[in-house]
Amino acid sequence: MTDQQATADPTVSDPAAYSGVRTGPLQPGERVTITDPKGRRHSLLLSPGQRFHTAKGAIEHDDLIGGPEGVVVTSVGGVQYLALRPLLGEFTVGMPRGAQVVYPKDAAQIVVGADIFPGARVLEAGAGSGALSLALLRAIGPTGRLTSYERREDFARIAAKNVRNFLGTEHPAWDLRLGDLATALGDGEGADPGAPTEIDRVVLDMLAPWECVDVIADRLVPGGVICCYVATTTQLGRITETLRVHGGFTEPQAEESMIRGWHVEGLSIRPSHQMVGHTGFLLTSRRLAPGVTAPARKRRPAPGAYGEDYTGPRPTTAPTGDGAGTQP
Ligand SMILES: C[S@@+](CC[C@H](N)C(=O)[O-])C[C@H]1O[C@@H](n2cnc3c(N)ncnc32)[C@H](O)[C@@H]1O
Repeated sequence: MTDQQATADPTVSDPAAYSGVRTGPLQPGERVTITDPKGRRHSLLLSPGQRFHTAKGAIEHDDLIGGPEGVVVTSVGGVQYLALRPLLGEFTVGMPRGAQVVYPKDAAQIVVGADIFPGARVLEAGAGSGALSLALLRAIGPTGRLTSYERREDFARIAAKNVRNFLGTEHPAWDLRLGDLATALGDGEGADPGAPTEIDRVVLDMLAPWECVDVIADRLVPGGVICCYVATTTQLGRITETLRVHGGFTEPQAEESMIRGWHVEGLSIRPSHQMVGHTGFLLTSRRLAPGVTAPARKRRPAPGAYGEDYTGPRPTTAPTGDGAGTQP
């Protein structure tokens, strides 16, 4: 490869290509977050000659353009603002949204829990507002493939715009497709001929992921990971039991994460008074080889776990009688 080719191919010449990360002097068209002394943030799209008006007077964009980030600008009214390019997590919680976004703490957990790697072929649904898509795209890089299904056209449009706004360009590895995932991957009416046939990792953030287990099992490579992010315990139970009943997956692992901020100031070192108490649950499982079924679990279900009030999918090892959970 010649030097010229290396420069023309951003996947080779620039390791940060398509990450949305920029360094160097601030340029027109770039987004900058300014933060006042009380921690209030505003997002600016830098444009020569423009002013951003605050309650304490205007800030000239030209005072920022051409200079480094991490500077302090002062409004006409004398208030100081710290200016920085937004990090990915900051951008996703502040960007316009149709659907509720995956929070940065969960996006981080999904990237590792689903074992997303550079070059991976990842299937995602639904794209929602594109927050998780951005985290997945950063993890797979330009040599991977992220196919994201979204069944609502208005949400797909928002996701596409958010991703483009953060990256400043289209991502060569992203294929955003409009449609219902189960229908698109099925073989009936509405099947998508452009759907990926082999998938390394699946990440589902949608209302009813259990409806997609069969079609995903057909395309997920042996050892591939399915990761479902659900908001409620009823969804968690349903997707867990559906994966168990399918039989072609490892025992699903469920978890959630809570992050508590800390106040650190002199001798006053204590947990923050406020925290986000609940976002969602994460369920991960791995695809077994074709024709292989998971070994029967040795552990007995808890007494009453599959009692008469239980109406969901029923693993073959679950008791069908009075639900006392005493059968092996
Ligand atoms: C909670 S939002 C996803 C948010 C997204 N992960 C983000 O971080 O911005 C759930 C999305 O799934 C979409 N959805 C639900 N069921 C779907 C299906 N069967 N196929 C495709 N999209 C679906 C919804 O329209 C909605 O936009």
